[in-house]
Amino acid sequence: MFFEKPVLAIESSCDETAAAVLDGRRVLSSAIASQVEMHRKWGGIVPEAAARAHIEAVLPVVEEAMRESGVGRVGAVVGTNRPGLIGALSVGLTAAKTLAFAWDVPLLGVHHLEGHILSTLADDGSAETAEMPPFPHLCLVVSGGHTELVWVQEPGSYKLLGQTLDDAAGEAFDKGARLLGLGYPGGLAIQEQAAKGNPKRFRLPRGLKDDPLNFSFSGLKTAVLRLVEREGPGISVPDASAALQAAIADVLVHKAMYAADRFGAKALTLVGGVAANQRLREMLRAECDKRGLVFCTPPFEFCTDNAAMIGIAGSIRLAKGERDGFELDCLPNAPLPGA
Ligand code: KG4
Ligand code: ZN
Repeated sequence: MFFEKPVLAIESSCDETAAAVLDGRRVLSSAIASQVEMHRKWGGIVPEAAARAHIEAVLPVVEEAMRESGVGRVGAVVGTNRPGLIGALSVGLTAAKTLAFAWDVPLLGVHHLEGHILSTLADDGSAETAEMPPFPHLCLVVSGGHTELVWVQEPGSYKLLGQTLDDAAGEAFDKGARLLGLGYPGGLAIQEQAAKGNPKRFRLPRGLKDDPLNFSFSGLKTAVLRLVEREGPGISVPDASAALQAAIADVLVHKAMYAADRFGAKALTLVGGVAANQRLREMLRAECDKRGLVFCTPPFEFCTDNAAMIGIAGSIRLAKGERDGFELDCLPNAPLPGA
């Protein structure tokens, strides 16, 4: 199922520069240089600045991943080539191409979302990641750019069941956090404030009730804005954060469980940056336990953007004989392969 030689993976589609070395599904090293601090002062990601920061970080991050892995030579180089910020993607992909050329090993471009979907297959050596989720399974992808329900028949074969029609779940956290003065990125800040708040004090809308598999979070952002205007500067940030977290988590859990029932899933995986949310993990785990479903979510470091997940997706495709030429391009938008 996995490529027989060690694989170097590079990820630079957004605001993390990451490199990892894998041996099969075992992650030997996973290095990440985050740009969060830099983008924080602008309140969001500035694409041109992201690309420049990737240029500075990419070789040191690759060097760190190679050194920590203890592997002298890799048998292939894979890199995220789609979708994402084009300038950001170009940096990681150019590094991947250069190394594949210099080392005379195969090159392969990876779809970022396929990386997230298969992130539950990464084994970091802990007991938690020893088992892979069974196939087929239902996957809920929730990140800053994505909110999707995907039927994963097997690695490489996917069916998109539903998605957001506007903002992603992570965007709803980030935009809500900004309105509440919590800065960027907002997910973790909302989670921390919510832990001290009462989720029932303010009622926020659960969008798109009549469409059971798709999501809409833009109305939630407007509702938070109205709430902030109504309550004024004395607003209880913990209570508002708890209400926002509950509104997002309720909708995600409700629709994931609807899909699990409707399509007869035996297992559910939760992936992407928002999968780091403690409340969401607990709620989904409880619902899965109730129904006798296997619930699987990666450790935190493989939830937010990382290269280990790109290595997993790349390694599986390499093992099937897939290769790319040096003309491989970056794409800002691209459908999920095998969909
Ligand atoms: O997967 P990711 O690192 O990047 C994308 O591909 O988008 O996801 C980043 C998103 C951000 O919106 C961030 O606010 C959210 O994940 N996030 C969280 C938490 N940690 C990160 N959202 C909710 N709760 C968290 N603990
Ligand atoms: Zn991502």
